[in-house]
Amino acid sequence: MTLQQKFKELENEGSALLATNFYNFETITGVLQAASAKEMPLILQASPSTINYLGAGVAASLARSTMKKHGVEGWLHLDHAESYELIEECLDEGFDSVMIDASEKSFDENVAITSRVTELARSYGANVEAELGYVAKLGQSHEREGFTKPDEARKFVEQTGVDALAVAIGSAHGFYKKEPDLDLERLEQIHRATSCALVLHGGSGIPDTQLQQGIRLGIRKINVATEIKNIFMKTLQEELQQNTEIDLRKVFPPATEKINHLVQGKMAIIKGAKTA
Ligand code: 13P
Ligand code: ZN
Ligand code: NA
Repeated sequence: MTLQQKFKELENEGSALLATNFYNFETITGVLQAASAKEMPLILQASPSTINYLGAGVAASLARSTMKKHGVEGWLHLDHAESYELIEECLDEGFDSVMIDASEKSFDENVAITSRVTELARSYGANVEAELGYVAKLGQSHEREGFTKPDEARKFVEQTGVDALAVAIGSAHGFYKKEPDLDLERLEQIHRATSCALVLHGGSGIPDTQLQQGIRLGIRKINVATEIKNIFMKTLQEELQQNTEIDLRKVFPPATEKINHLVQGKMAIIKGAKTA
């Protein structure tokens, strides 16, 4: 099943996919252990800095081989790409999905850049995600003016033909200084105005109930990166303080296990959205 088809299915079910960022073998293993235990499909995503670290080919083959190993259905996605060339490279390596992030450009430029990517991705049968409005990046302030306007979203989706749209409704990348308060009314309006899958970026730190309300009002993909990175590194740092182990294969598993636990929790929240 393509991711585009999966999104249609999720729309009918009123459910969402968890999209987790990975950085190396250990982090991808943790999320796949969780998906396997919960018997849930998911999106594995790599950012440009991860592609820079692993290489597009290694990221693709790592994702393919580990999904197979764990018996998990999943799609490989390029997260927050700003370069057409990087998108093309990842599509050539067999990525199922790409995000073009031109959210800091004007509406017209965003439409033009995104349309070019949609055209390219079509020839690969790949899914395309874009961003309209502005979800604060790590270390940036959370500005309300950047929120997605429902009417613009409708025009944007019609003009670009994207399959998925990242919306700015009050979430932000990284942890929050104070509890986020998602603009769910706006989300509902965007959902009514558009026909594509809506994506919630900045998933780390959002309370469970708001995630579930988001799904009920149209979110089909929830991105989580920071909580995964954080729990992995915190656990690893503790491990390394406690022992002088030089067999690195013994150092990583406790950190991987913490990711497994964390991701199972996120998946339970998504599952709970349908009935709660
Ligand atoms: P967090 O940094 O809040 O986990 O957001 C992840 C994300 O949106 C990746 O694209
Ligand atoms: Zn993001
Ligand atoms: Na966040």
